Amino acid sequence: MEGSFTGGDEYQKHFLPRDYLAAFYSFDSGPVPEAEMLKFNLECLHKTFGPAVTPQARPPGRMLEITLHFSFRVTSTHSWAIFPGGLQGDTLIDIDSGPTIYQVLAACESFKDITLSDFTDRNREELEKWLKKEPGAYDWTPAVRFACELEGNSDRWREKEEKLRAVVKRVLKCDANLGNPLAPVVLPLADCVLTLLAMECACCSLDAYRAALRNLASLLKPGGHLVTIVTLRLKSYMVGKRQFSCVPLEKEEVEQAVLDAGFDIEQLLHSPRSYTVSLAANTGLCFIVARKRPGP
Ligand SMILES: C[S@@+](CC[C@H](N)C(=O)[O-])C[C@H]1O[C@@H](n2cnc3c(N)ncnc32)[C@H](O)[C@@H]1O
Repeated sequence: MEGSFTGGDEYQKHFLPRDYLAAFYSFDSGPVPEAEMLKFNLECLHKTFGPAVTPQARPPGRMLEITLHFSFRVTSTHSWAIFPGGLQGDTLIDIDSGPTIYQVLAACESFKDITLSDFTDRNREELEKWLKKEPGAYDWTPAVRFACELEGNSDRWREKEEKLRAVVKRVLKCDANLGNPLAPVVLPLADCVLTLLAMECACCSLDAYRAALRNLASLLKPGGHLVTIVTLRLKSYMVGKRQFSCVPLEKEEVEQAVLDAGFDIEQLLHSPRSYTVSLAANTGLCFIVARKRPGP
């Protein structure tokens, strides 16, 4: 596959949601890197969309525990406020949701209207299946329970699932490489755009990645937030027996692309976490919260 980029046609034909979920979101395989990565992502999202934590209100030692547990390498200039939390608004668009819902478990408590989206029909069908509680829908219970645990009440998981189903208002086709990634649909400008582990897969080059971030910025109100997790130095990943290409990105390239797309970076967390090498040989990842600058 060296040198060839797996574009939309390959995703549409060969990206099988169940193979992807089995590889990266299987909950019965113990403490494998994929499970740890999911917990890491849920923690970051909880700390971002959960209640604002002032330095005074922060439970003593809690931040230290999380820091140690996840081996964060913190690059923020004001480390005590890495996760000020409290990101909220009316509308949130998740770009390239894939077949997964974990990424909006935290945000469904602080946004009223969530849009999920993906390029492929199969992924959107998988999302609809879960949203409509159809037979054979993927079981996200362990992830939902973990998200509830972070919020302080793991017994609330059924309620949370219903909350999420109520807040997701639509599942749309998207192509991150289009000026309007949701075309032909035009949504009102959003308060938040979320995109996890996806732009590096949808883009064939650094230039395309930079353009895609500008496309995402166009979906946001001035002052709106971009929340993204990007795997670093990832050339490809496996879904079943199929290999999908990625644009390998350095942290500095991601950072510059976000700034050049018209954002100020509010948080940047660089973690050494990586997937199982045979599945996705990344070298760390970064979690970014950025705010769209007002004006052109
Ligand atoms: C690695 S998966 C990430 C899925 C999900 N966000 C997650 O966190 O697991 C990459 C996703 O990008 C989608 N994708 C690929 N090319 C795309 C494009 N041009 N525009 C939008 N999505 C695309 C694929 O369908 C796939 O669901």
